[in-house]
Amino acid sequence: MHEERRARPRPAEIRWRGERDAVLAGSVQVERFDAAAGGEQVRACHEMYLAGLPRDDPLGPAMSPRVFAAWLAYGWTEDPVEPWLGRDRSGHPCGYSVLTLPERENRHIAFVNVLVDPAHRRAGVGSALVRHAAERASRAGRSLLSADALADSPGSAFARAWGARPEIADVRRVLDVRALRPGELTRLRSRAEGAAAGYALVSWEGPSPDDQLPAVAALNAATADMPRMADTQAQLWDTERVRMDERRMMAQGLRHYTVAARSQAGELAGLTQLSVDPSLPGWGFQEFTVVARPHRGHRLGLLVKVAMLELLADREPQVTRIITGNADSNEHMIAINAELGFTVLDRWEGWTLPARRALAARVPG
Ligand SMILES: CC(C)(COP(=O)(O)OP(=O)(O)OC[C@H]1O[C@@H](n2cnc3c(N)ncnc32)[C@H](O)[C@@H]1OP(=O)(O)O)[C@@H](O)C(=O)NCCC(=O)NCCS
Repeated sequence: MHEERRARPRPAEIRWRGERDAVLAGSVQVERFDAAAGGEQVRACHEMYLAGLPRDDPLGPAMSPRVFAAWLAYGWTEDPVEPWLGRDRSGHPCGYSVLTLPERENRHIAFVNVLVDPAHRRAGVGSALVRHAAERASRAGRSLLSADALADSPGSAFARAWGARPEIADVRRVLDVRALRPGELTRLRSRAEGAAAGYALVSWEGPSPDDQLPAVAALNAATADMPRMADTQAQLWDTERVRMDERRMMAQGLRHYTVAARSQAGELAGLTQLSVDPSLPGWGFQEFTVVARPHRGHRLGLLVKVAMLELLADREPQVTRIITGNADSNEHMIAINAELGFTVLDRWEGWTLPARRALAARVPG
């Protein structure tokens, strides 16, 4: 049982070497920039992202400038990230692409996040950025491009026009915390506790304590049986990767909470993590939830999530909505979320495209 992190394409030390590639892709000038240094390019990308939201992601909470900037610098998956800014002939920013190059597993894939400023759409900019991304991906030895887009959005039409293959979809759900009936959490907790005799709850805020680190890494690794895209490997976790993930969250300025269940033998059996962006304090962002295989069947998933809601009521009483995302085939986690009162917000489709096809293609349409 498990729950996915905020977004599929998820810091390795940035492989930034101070280079300033600038190449022409069609009519678009594409330049690589150092997101960790902040500056004009980062701001331009965030502005374009915000301008696109009414069509690209009308229902979800927007990434704040700090969360966005640290995503550009560190990515979501503790892997090297390459942000590129596209400029039109007059030098104005018109789009960006962010490549994530997994290095521990899935070394055949490049996650690609392409976005075009709404004022420049349907003029071939997106296609130019995809072709450029495919060149970079090929140079890095990647054969497959992978991307996500909201169903029925410009992004999904674009992916179809490129002949990309539909992959596993993610459904986002939201819990309206104010709609929880009085006594509901107590009722759910006693239901879970009825099956969880012998387990105790522990919680912490911020980075994992040193003595819990190996267990947290092992629980991350226990998400290996989570539904995922065809022909991909599960993420490989060690304590260094957990610390990298935490560094990204710190760079994003998130307040981060963990609730875990400990067995009688003292072993961490399951946990759930959630973060709050201080500049968007009404939202709770569910990170991952997992119960290790030998401990499944004790309602620990429900138990830790109820305990997280109780902790939030105390520590983050202003949180009114919690957002989570699951592969639409992840029935066990979805059942728990339904029990808690989460309802469907929207659906995100995964797409893949062989890099060689992107390189061979002319502008589609
Ligand atoms: C998807 C996106 C990058 C497309 O950028 P763009 O510059 O408009 O794309 P292009 O002009 O190169 O479009 C190429 C073809 O894709 C298809 N396409 C693109 N947007 C479309 C839309 N809104 N509706 C229908 N088809 C569309 C068309 O076939 C188009 O060719 P045509 O204009 O000659 O008909 C842009 O809409 C965007 O930034 N969306 C939000 C982020 C996103 O979803 N990224 C892609 C994830 S796969």
